[in-house]
Amino acid sequence: MEKKIIFSGIQPSGKLTLGNYLGAVRNWNNLQEEYNCFYCIVDMHAMTQYQEPKDLRKQTMEALAMLLACGLDPDKNTLFIQSHVPAHAEAAWVMSCMTYFGELSRMTQFKDKSAKQSENINAGLFTYPVLMAVDILLYQTHLVPVGSDQKQHIELTRDVAERFNNRYSETFVIPEPYIAKVGAKIMSLQEPEKKMSKSDENENANIYLLDPPEVIRKKFKRAVTDSIGIVQIADDQPGIRNLISIYSVCKNMTEEEVAKAFEGKGYGDFKSAVAEAVIEVLSPVQEKFHALMSDKEYLEKVYQEGALKAENVARKTLRKIYKKVGFIPRS
Ligand code: AMP
Ligand code: TRP
Repeated sequence: MEKKIIFSGIQPSGKLTLGNYLGAVRNWNNLQEEYNCFYCIVDMHAMTQYQEPKDLRKQTMEALAMLLACGLDPDKNTLFIQSHVPAHAEAAWVMSCMTYFGELSRMTQFKDKSAKQSENINAGLFTYPVLMAVDILLYQTHLVPVGSDQKQHIELTRDVAERFNNRYSETFVIPEPYIAKVGAKIMSLQEPEKKMSKSDENENANIYLLDPPEVIRKKFKRAVTDSIGIVQIADDQPGIRNLISIYSVCKNMTEEEVAKAFEGKGYGDFKSAVAEAVIEVLSPVQEKFHALMSDKEYLEKVYQEGALKAENVARKTLRKIYKKVGFIPRS
């Protein structure tokens, strides 16, 4: 039987965080045997916020090295850079003519980001979900493993794909979101009502995957909690709840088991245990990352081969799309 197809993307818009790892990349590792997986570094999406060109270049290479360091095997998965496969930009135009202004206006990520960057609400920020839909649809994707913040974008992808299939004829597989039960939304360490995000200006809010152990210990020590003083799962303790879920994913325990293990313990002890659990998970990743970053030739080979594999699949779907909408094939 043919393997089902998985597609996911990550923006090279800053340093990857523990949220990216626990919410997304870590799960990608578990899928590489069973599925045919495409993982894309979406540099075109990252442009919706201004990026210094030299930073964008560096962050793109770092994101690739990080995916490899986290355990993705380039022989089993297709790892590639979005701008290397022009079919994404080409198909995005067609699909943008099939997506309504009203639909895009309802996207919460657009609303959040336009509030944050009110001086740069560019057209790309608005049409961003169309490009994301195309990323997914070009590969006839069945499953999209993401953190829960991306669910709305996947619902839009499904709506647009169904619209195309109904208007022309069966063309796209309708994808499903694939969201882990634990870790799908890691919160900021400083404002635990908000998700941990690469673009947060407060460095203490994030654990970056490359933070050294002493920085990780310091950030957890400073993590915002509450005055209740009991390690338990409760809605009025969002800071503690976040630490419980981080610990539970790192240690492969359920959240209930974690709460039980720390019954009667103070926040100080719990925070140090969480820090050590995270350090244990990140140390081997960091070691591999540094080794990979000093081997540019290998990284180039990975993204070049990835682009060829991706291009083959994407071109086929693009050709279908163009034909169905009535464009005349050049040859
Ligand atoms: P981004 O950083 O927006 O490129 O996100 C890349 C992937 O990480 C997506 O699948 C997101 O849903 C996921 N992700 C980002 N931030 C978090 C978070 N705080 N918790 C869980 N998943 C996250
Ligand atoms: N929008 C996603 C994010 O911000 C990144 C992304 C772009 C993506 N294209 C994708 C995720 C396709 C899954 C599938 O996290």
